[in-house]
Parts: sequence; structure tokens; C-alpha cells
Amino acid sequence: MPAISLVFGGISIILLAAYRFLFRTGRLPNEPNEIPTWIPFFGHAFTFAKDKRSFYRWASDKNHEQPFSALIGGRKHYIFHDPADVAAIHKQGKSLHIRGFVRFIYISIWGFTKRDADKMWDIKPEWHRIDTDWLLQPEKNQVITEKYFTKLEEQLTKLDQRIEASPNKAVNEAGLKAVVDLEGKATVQTMYGETTLELNPGLLDDLTIMVRDGFWGLMFRAPKFLYRKSYDARERLIVAFANLIENIDTRKDVSTYIAERTKYLNSHGISPMTQGADLLRTMFAKSSSLLNSMPTGYLAMLHILETPGLIDQVRDELTAAGYQNLAPAELVQIIPQKVPLLRSIWHETLRMHNNSLTVREVIADTQVMGKDRAWGLQKGNVVTIPCGLMHFDEKLHPDPDGYHPRRFLDKDLGGEGEGHAKTTKPFGGGSTHCPGRVFAEKQMIGLVAGILMRYDVEITSPTYTIPMVSEFDDIANRPPIYFRFSKRKNVGAAA
Ligand code: HEM
Repeated sequence: MPAISLVFGGISIILLAAYRFLFRTGRLPNEPNEIPTWIPFFGHAFTFAKDKRSFYRWASDKNHEQPFSALIGGRKHYIFHDPADVAAIHKQGKSLHIRGFVRFIYISIWGFTKRDADKMWDIKPEWHRIDTDWLLQPEKNQVITEKYFTKLEEQLTKLDQRIEASPNKAVNEAGLKAVVDLEGKATVQTMYGETTLELNPGLLDDLTIMVRDGFWGLMFRAPKFLYRKSYDARERLIVAFANLIENIDTRKDVSTYIAERTKYLNSHGISPMTQGADLLRTMFAKSSSLLNSMPTGYLAMLHILETPGLIDQVRDELTAAGYQNLAPAELVQIIPQKVPLLRSIWHETLRMHNNSLTVREVIADTQVMGKDRAWGLQKGNVVTIPCGLMHFDEKLHPDPDGYHPRRFLDKDLGGEGEGHAKTTKPFGGGSTHCPGRVFAEKQMIGLVAGILMRYDVEITSPTYTIPMVSEFDDIANRPPIYFRFSKRKNVGAAA
């Protein structure tokens, strides 16, 4: 018996070693090195799923910070992070394509039928033009931002009232929930109209439930009974938005941006339920991108509250810029141009916490001319750019594990003078470069300014750890960190 086990064990080891050898060899001579694995098919999938960022950092260290490849869930992924390599990849839009992933996500997460996902893709150029017009043309962007600042002021006023009504004139609540109520509600009202929120007061709770209780279940199309809460929340959200589409002519408070989009999609026969799924997509990940914006606002608040002296420095900057003398809609005159410290805090929060991946499918064998050599990428594999790797490269960002609020502030203003444009990539790049990046910065700065200029705020959780990544599902599943808000004495908020 022991002899049989020994022979069996020996054969298994030889087979595994053969597998490891065979499957680390790429077909193209100049493919990035493969990080070996003993696990057939799944490869590094489990380590990756446990903690993407740690996996990438570990693998990159192992490969001396050169591009590498790794088998993850049956597909070989090429991982790049050097700014020059990344720029070269974004130029190869024809053979490194995003369509397959977009289709997968449309169907899994947003609940599109396959037919509708394809139809939406086919007409993307025009609705995407509407997105970029409204988000990037300065005059149109200003219309959206002015409304957002006005709606934010209304949400802050509601918090004032809760503080006033409380026995000790203070509100103690989970910081993430506070940000969802302030930034999230103001954004929903700005884009989709006040009526949408009035008719669906649970809209943002459903967003939280859908992501917190079953994001990965939805992603991998797990049976509904396993993730019922999440599937049900998604259904309610799609129905709420479909109702908006059906009644768009009477919803005068919806933004012109969304009204224009709806008109266009209607003219192409896209059904209200499909448009409902699309508005859910725009609310979550695009067009208002709350899943990105809210965690960033929350994490920025945590760092500001935790860093000695920073609250006062931010307040001084806002006061010097004239914050108190401006009505909410006028804040566009100073945010973001006149608040460089807050801008640096924005970029540093994204650098440290953003964990987004740019993913492209290799649809034809490709040579990418990178920083100092060409890389061969084989058809059928996947290119991944995890921005976290670039963001933690100490050659680009000294002391990458430390949060430096002044890292991206000019030296002549007392900062460290790092540039963010080429060395941080939280907004992807190439053909899908996030058009919301300009509004997103104002969204966060408006939130932080609104809170700090109005309230004394402190963290009241006796022990807590600032989450490492800004993924909403990760943050929402962690123990809440509590903030205590009370009104500042003798200081006016925005006029
Ligand atoms: C912290 C805030 C944000 C982050 C980190 C972020 C990040 C990203 C990333 C990484 C992509 C590219 C995805 C890909 O290539 O697959 C993207 C695309 C996009 N984002 Fe954002 N985003 C943010 C805020 C916003 C906001 C506030 C809006 C709208 C108001 C927005 C609208 C969009 C749109 C429309 C796209 C799609 C571009 C396309 O498919 O061509 N984003 N965003």
C-alpha cells in the first residue's frame, strides 16, 4: 500500500512539474515573464481574488518590477504598470480591445440581455458623445457642478437640522453613510432629478445592498437564491430608473444631460427596462460613478481627520479663497482652481486607495513598443493595467505607503511637487478614459469643503483602520468608522 501511494504521489509531482513547465512558455518569443503556478486552470485566481493589490505587488517584486504575466482563471494576463508601457498599450486600440469585457459586465452586473448589450455597444459613439460633451465641455460641466453644489448645500442643511434636533446638538454616525447621504444624494438629484429620489427614497440604500451583499455573486451570475438581497435590490433600481424613462416628459427636474441621452436612446428603440439598466450602470460606475466617488470622499475625510493640523490648513485655504462669501452655485469660481491643497489631497487619496484595473482583450497577436523594448502579446490573452502598481512604485512616488497630503502640491506652495498626470492612472486611459474625472474632483472637494467649513468633525470609533482600497463593496463590508458632527461656532457656511 505505501508503495502504491509513493508511485501515485511521484507521478502526480511529475505531471504537475510538466504542467508548470509547459504552461509557463508563451508562444511569442518576447512575451512578459510568467509567474509560475502549481494550480491548473485557476492558477493565481485565489490569491488574486483575496487581495488583488497585494497579489500584483508580490508578483511585480518577484519579477523585478518588469511587466509579467500570470494565469488567472484559465486565461493568461499580461500585467503592465510603467507609464511608458501603459501609454503604448493605450495606443493599440485596434488589437487590444475592451468590448468583450464591457459585454460581460453589462450582462452580469447591470442585468442587460445579450441582445440589448450588443445593441447598446453598436450605438455607443453617439451616447458616449453626449457623455463627454456634458462631462468635459467646460460650460456644460459647469451647469452640472453648480446644481451639484446647490443640492449638496440642501443635504448639509438637512444634517444641520438633525444636529439641531438632537439632545446634545451632535450627530454621531457611520462616516460612509454620512458621505452617501451628502455626496450620493446630491449627485442623484443633480443627474436624475429630485423627483427620482423622492419617489425612491431607498435608491442609495439599494445601491449599497446590491454591491455590499452580492457584487461577486452578480459578477459570476450565481443562482439568485444565493444572493437574493442583491438581485432584488438591482431589480428595484432598474424598475425605478425605467419609471423615470417612461415619465421623462414630466420629469422637468432631470438633468439636460440625462434627458438628451434618453431622447437619443428612445429614438433607437431601446426599451425603458434596458434604459433602466443603463441608468443603473451610469449611476454606479459611469455618469455619476458613485461607486468611485463616494469611497474617495470618505477616505479623504478619514485622512484629513486623522492627520494632525490638516483640518485647519484646509479651512485656512478655503477661507483665503473666499469660500464663506460665495453662494453654493458660485463655488465653481474657486473649486478646484483656488484650492491647491485640496487638489493634492484628491490626487493623493486616489493614488493611495484607487484599485481600478484597465483591462483589454488581445484580439490579434500584437507587438507593443514599450519603455525600452517591444513586448509580444498573444491573441486570446488579456492585458491588465492595475493602477495600484504604478501608484505604489517608489521610483515614481517616494514613500508610497505613506499618505502625503502635500505630495501633489507645487514646491513653491510648500508641497512635494510630484506631478500626477503621468504617474497616476485612477481614471484608466485610451478610448475609455474616464470623462467624469473633472466633475469627480469637484464632487469630492465640494463635499470635504462643505463638511469642514460647517462642522466640527471627529472620528469617534475607539479603534479603526483606514481601508486600503476604495472599492465600495470592500469598504461597505468593513466595520463602520463613526464620525461626530456638531456645528462650528461663529463661522458661516457658504452664503
Ligand atoms: C473617483 C471618481 C472616479 C473614478 C476613480 C473613475 C474611474 C473610471 C475608470 C477607471 C474608467 C475606465 C473604465 C475602463 O476603461 O474600463 C471610467 C470610465 C468612465 N467614467 Fe469614471 N471614474 C470616476 C468618476 C466618474 C464620474 C463622477 C463620472 C460622471 C459624472 C464618470 C463617468 C465615466 C464614464 C461615462 C466612463 C466611460 C468611458 C467609456 O466607456 O468610454 N466617472 N471611470
